Amino acid sequence: MRKEVILNTVGLRAGYGGKPVLQGLEIEVREGEIVAVIGRNGVGKSTLMKSLIGLVPPMDGSIVFRGEAIEALPAFRRARLGIGYVPQGRDVFPRLSVGENIAVGAAIKGGLTDAGKQQIIETFPILGERWSQPAGTMSGGQQQQLAIGRVLIADPDLILLDEPSEGIQPNIVQDIARDMVALNRKTGVTIILVEQNLDMIRAMAQRCYVMEKGRIVADLDRSALDDEAEMRRHLAV
Ligand SMILES: Nc1ncnc2c1ncn2[C@@H]1O[C@H](COP(=O)(O)OP(=O)(O)O)[C@@H](O)[C@H]1O
Ligand SMILES: [Mg+2]
Repeated sequence: MRKEVILNTVGLRAGYGGKPVLQGLEIEVREGEIVAVIGRNGVGKSTLMKSLIGLVPPMDGSIVFRGEAIEALPAFRRARLGIGYVPQGRDVFPRLSVGENIAVGAAIKGGLTDAGKQQIIETFPILGERWSQPAGTMSGGQQQQLAIGRVLIADPDLILLDEPSEGIQPNIVQDIARDMVALNRKTGVTIILVEQNLDMIRAMAQRCYVMEKGRIVADLDRSALDDEAEMRRHLAV
């Protein structure tokens, strides 16, 4: 049986200064899926993620989360509904400790509890080791784990991950991919993954949307992800 649709967009147009970047974009994601979104630099992948969480207002079209139109809701309301956003470049608070960063993420669900802390440390043990250390002193990979942990603490049903592999050592990329897949298997969390890193896409995604100029131009199944030439064509910068 096919799972329920958790999120879809209809004719989504959004951009900056009155100029649309997303040009009537349509996606449909089902509960528990891990779907990648790929495309060359500047096609609007990050704009899509920002418009899904509510940081870029839509000019037209709709975003439906679990049957509810959410395009008019502010970001914090979407977060409360169960959408977590991990921005490109991570954006952890560098002067706050790891624990304080996690507490910021927990605020949306009434604050940090011991059980919540334990859960995060179980997923990313390094965050436990560095709990009192300023986030800015950690490596890129550790900061990426923190950025993901800050979202996981609110127990989202849908995670928007924008280029988590960017600027991170290959072994940490594989760690993060493995941890996210394990979490997906364990909790059924749905993930939309924007990526350029083919290894990470293959390690995580079950299918893959290809974006060009603000539109989805292809929906590739798992077998296409293993087609090196096809994937390289879509990923070229
Ligand atoms: N804050 C912004 N203000 C104006 N234009 C922006 C802003 N952010 C992105 N853009 C433009 O929107 C287009 C899509 O950018 P983006 O969504 O970041 O692409 P991608 O993530 O696919 O590389 C680009 O032309 C970019 O220059
Ligand atoms: Mg981007």
